[in-house]
This record gives sequence, structure tokens and C-alpha cells, in this order.
Amino acid sequence: MNPFKKFNLWFNLAKKNHPFDHTAFALGTTINKEVYVRMVLLKIIMEDGFVFFTNLKSKKGQHFNANKNLSMCFYWESIHKQIRIVGKGSIVSKKISDDYFNSRPRGSQIGAWVSKQSSEIPSFDYLKKREMHFEKKFKDYQVPRPDYWEGIKIKPREFEFWQQGDYRLHKREAYYLKNNNWKRKILSP
Ligand SMILES: Cc1cc2nc3c(=O)[nH]c(=O)nc-3n(C[C@H](O)[C@H](O)[C@H](O)COP(=O)(O)O)c2cc1C
Repeated sequence: MNPFKKFNLWFNLAKKNHPFDHTAFALGTTINKEVYVRMVLLKIIMEDGFVFFTNLKSKKGQHFNANKNLSMCFYWESIHKQIRIVGKGSIVSKKISDDYFNSRPRGSQIGAWVSKQSSEIPSFDYLKKREMHFEKKFKDYQVPRPDYWEGIKIKPREFEFWQQGDYRLHKREAYYLKNNNWKRKILSP
């Protein structure tokens, strides 16, 4: 089976059965041989990749600028499944980021201006003050998308599907690209 098809099957199963946000995944980035992970949300599934949105000036954004190799990992406990994806990131078109930004609640749009994501701030009050500043600034206007706030598409070169089995005999199925074709192999748990 094409791994994108299998991803969609499992993702939809998680949507129905996972009591929490099934779109949340751990995103792995690297910088200077250090590895970082944090949770983000999968917002768009494209034919050839998976899109999340973030502030490109954040830590993860800076890592992405230095190294486009990214990794994602979903775990849905309720359906006993994990999916790991390894691939390359690229910035999506301005139109895709604009459309998604414009679909967000106004408060979140203002939040994108308020937060200099991952930078040190003097206090939580400072954020409140910035929020008031941007609310005033954009009063009576549609909030524009900050140019540093964009979508990143991860185009997979490797998928691994993990299905919990009895007595640790889990089923692991990996897909990798060879001459532009997806090859499948089964891995020991
Ligand atoms: C469930 C969950 C979903 C999140 N989704 C996003 C997201 O889609 N985009 C984002 O930039 N940060 C998201 N965050 C916050 C990130 O985990 C992280 O704290 C933030 O992006 C800064 O990360 P960085 O300093 O590594 O760049 C989410 C956090 C949680 C717990």
C-alpha cells in the first residue's frame, strides 16, 4: 500500500477514536548536533507532504533554516498506533499560509504578532501589554499575517508504522523511497 494512503487510514481512525487532538505530533529538529523535539499540530495533508504552521524566528524556525531535515512522530494511545516520518521541510506558498492564517480566530492572529516565539521576555505582563498594543494597532482592520509566520511542509522520504502487539510483538512496517518508488520492509519490534 502507498504509505500516504496508509497514513490517511490511520489518521482518520485516530480522528474517530482518539479522545484528544489527533493532529498533534512531536516535531524533531537538529542544530549543531543537538536534537530538539516539541509538539505542533498537523494542519494540512497534501499529496506529497504534511504541513504545520509556526513562527520562523522561533527556535524550530532557526533550526529549520540551518537544516531542512525534519522528523515527525504521532502516537495515538487509544488505537495503539505510532507513525514516524522522516523528511525534508520546505516553506509553503504565501497563499497557503495566508489562507490558513485568515481562517484562524482573530485572537490567534493577534497572538502571532504578540509572541516573538522562543525569545526571552521580562514577564507575562509584558505579553499582555503587547497584546493590547496590537489589538489597538489592528482595530478596525483585518489582521495581516506576519511575514515570519508560515507553513512548513514536510515531504517524507521514510515512514514507519507501528502497531502494538501482544507480548511486545509489535508490528513495524517501514516504507522508504528507492528510485522514486516506495519500498516496504518489515522490522523486528
Ligand atoms: C499540543 C500542542 C500543539 C502545539 N502546536 C503548535 C503549532 O502548531 N505551532 C507552533 O509553532 N507551536 C505549537 N505548540 C508550541 C510548541 O510545542 C513550542 O512550545 C513552540 O512552538 C516553541 O518551540 P521552539 O522554541 O522549539 O521553536 C504546540 C504545543 C502543544 C503542547
